[in-house]
Amino acid sequence: MNVLILGSGGREHALAQTIASVLNPEHDALLVAPGNGGTLAVADNLKMPADLPAFCQEASIDLVILGPEGPLAAGVADALRAAGIVVFGPGAQGARLESSKAFAKEFMGRHQIPTPPYEVFDDPLAARAFVEDRWSEQGLVIKADGLAGGQGVVVAVTRQEAIGAIFSLMERRVAGEAGDRVLVEPRLEGTELSILALVDGEHHVLLPPAQDHKTLFEGGRGPNTGGMGAVAPTPVASAELLDRIDREIVAPAVAGLAQEGIAYRGVLYARVMVTEQGPQVLGFNCRFGDPEAQVIVPGIASCLEVLEATARGRLAEVAVRHDQRVRVCVVAAAPGYPDSPALGDAIDGLDEAVTLPGVTILHAGTRLDSRRGFVTSGGRVLGVVGEGEDLVQAQERAYVAIHRISFEAGGPHFRHDIGVGGLVGVGGV
Ligand code: GLY
Repeated sequence: MNVLILGSGGREHALAQTIASVLNPEHDALLVAPGNGGTLAVADNLKMPADLPAFCQEASIDLVILGPEGPLAAGVADALRAAGIVVFGPGAQGARLESSKAFAKEFMGRHQIPTPPYEVFDDPLAARAFVEDRWSEQGLVIKADGLAGGQGVVVAVTRQEAIGAIFSLMERRVAGEAGDRVLVEPRLEGTELSILALVDGEHHVLLPPAQDHKTLFEGGRGPNTGGMGAVAPTPVASAELLDRIDREIVAPAVAGLAQEGIAYRGVLYARVMVTEQGPQVLGFNCRFGDPEAQVIVPGIASCLEVLEATARGRLAEVAVRHDQRVRVCVVAAAPGYPDSPALGDAIDGLDEAVTLPGVTILHAGTRLDSRRGFVTSGGRVLGVVGEGEDLVQAQERAYVAIHRISFEAGGPHFRHDIGVGGLVGVGGV
């Protein structure tokens, strides 16, 4: 089988490593475009082909797995499907659940999916007036409507922060056109979960519940990042709660997509805040989360078969099983991340860390330099994954390993509370 994964982060390394373990290098090919320093060890890295459908046809690619939201929103899956290629990932219509927060809210309204009330603004003056009028101690969340690489959401606990967020998004345009329209909604108190489901257009299967840790510093402090660590399965989500989330959120969303004629094949990822009033959707993503994939994907039994069945609309024909091992991923970030990460530093200690029991190192922002070995090339550099019988063991393994790793000019920066002690109320978006 020939498989192509698109993307270059830790999520794609997790997918590539898991899939590589079941491929036969004599008959099968695994390509990652563009990949990173880590994917090189398990796959062939490839420059993104200019004409992807033609490339896939010529290279006899049997399955394309789309990692990040950008290509999904741009309709890459549609173009590939039109060329007869089997694709894991929704088309542009389905990806609108992530690429337009206003579209997602309207969709949730049509299908009675619980989500906080909201207002949409195209005019910064009107948005500011609304914030002045509605400000309360509860706080407000200001969200760019479009894709902003994880930087388009501000959880404002002061009025000044809310006004500042509107200025940054709508007038300074820090997220470009993604922030020309913003949504304003009340800040919710609760515990945030990442609920990912495989969806084949008709059927769905929940993957183990995960938790991301969004803020740069421990205890929900500091700016939001792409994610500083993740845990799965999280003990915070009981079977009863998951059942409720499935009934009230995931099943209606999957049925709603089908009713609206949107053939959705891939991952549907709901960011759920569990509040005293019940679970509420903060937003949908149309792909595996990063770093959630790093703690979910390696535990999916027969992962390639399952992803292919999802992509072909045949999820009902396979058993989706997870090994139920607990995994904790601690992100090793470059000093200065997220604003101005120091890049180009040699990374030390990888060889030793990777030999520790129950430890996997997933690369994100790395590249292989012929002279200096692996060097940092992105803000989130590595995901150090500890795996264990329980959360305590998984966490301990991840932290023992990350302490062996250093970057040439200082760092890495990482949070010390991923996992035990950091699970209640994590996220904050
Ligand atoms: N972990 C957050 C995201 O993937 O968007």
